[in-house]
Amino acid sequence: MEQLATLADLPTRYIDDLKQSNLVPLWPSLRNVLPPVKPIPNTKSIVWKYNEIKPLLLEAGELTPIEKAERRVLVLANPGHGLENMRATSVIYLGMQLLLPNEWAPAHRHTPNAIRLIVEGEKAYTTVEGKKCPMEKGDLILTPSGLWHEHGHDGDEPVIWLDVLDLPLVYYMEASFVEGGDCQPIQRVENKPRYAAGLVPTVQHIRGEQNYPMLRYPWSDAKQLLIDLAAENTAGPVQVAYVNPETGEDCQKIIGYSALMVRPGEKVQLEPRSAAMVFHVIEGETAITIDGKASHLDTADTACAPCFAHIDLINNSQDACFLFIADEAPIQKKLGLYSTRPRGE
Ligand SMILES: [Fe+2]
Repeated sequence: MEQLATLADLPTRYIDDLKQSNLVPLWPSLRNVLPPVKPIPNTKSIVWKYNEIKPLLLEAGELTPIEKAERRVLVLANPGHGLENMRATSVIYLGMQLLLPNEWAPAHRHTPNAIRLIVEGEKAYTTVEGKKCPMEKGDLILTPSGLWHEHGHDGDEPVIWLDVLDLPLVYYMEASFVEGGDCQPIQRVENKPRYAAGLVPTVQHIRGEQNYPMLRYPWSDAKQLLIDLAAENTAGPVQVAYVNPETGEDCQKIIGYSALMVRPGEKVQLEPRSAAMVFHVIEGETAITIDGKASHLDTADTACAPCFAHIDLINNSQDACFLFIADEAPIQKKLGLYSTRPRGE
């Protein structure tokens, strides 16, 4: 492609005149905003080690009472976006949250969608629109846009979970805000898997677009399905997507979620794709190579990979590794931006 003229090629007087009229010449920036062939991501491949996060998070529990934090979270920030911008990718926010015994994070609701992936601890719960969802290790709990939610803890050990939000995108769209302060009515209704029988209530089936029939996805179910699939299929990666059981679509609108099992001795090569991805180890350990950069992920470690990255997961351990994956594919597909390209291209 042709090298284009730069600002230095223009007279200073002309540039000043443009500024006075709130005008900018496109051509000095054209190759930055429309780079040839593929995007130039700010997102860097990063690994956050849980053994570094946990002591700092527990220290936050001593330094800042929950009443002064509301949500006691350490954000997993990608330096490629600037730490102060609190982004893992351009769409995905990641935070590790601590709730101590008898603490309560009060009810609020906000425009960004959120999920919780429980990392460790027992007897905490998230109440979503009156539905009390127990938080057990590996469980996925949705708190979609606009739904009231709060967190409580009846146990006697700290509980830690991973928050994933589409906050960077919603904030960029100037659509991010929260309402809160008042306690939502708590009905103490367990979120039973009402759809397991393949039945949906016909009245509720004709509903508006804010339809989230399932808020808690127990890890015990997801893990068993992965193990069963691995036994049935000897070749190929074993991966399951978290979907809305009524529609079969992604369980949330902007970020997609899935769980991947890497068998002992298995190497999983992921096809480069336009959507950035986040990996979090629920159980086990694995090596990960992102664009040739090798790291090791232990249980509860988290990594992110930019768009079109070449990603290999290599499990050299004796046990299966189970990973939770968040990616930007749903919003990219809705916007017609999603693509893959063959490895090696
Ligand atoms: Fe929230």
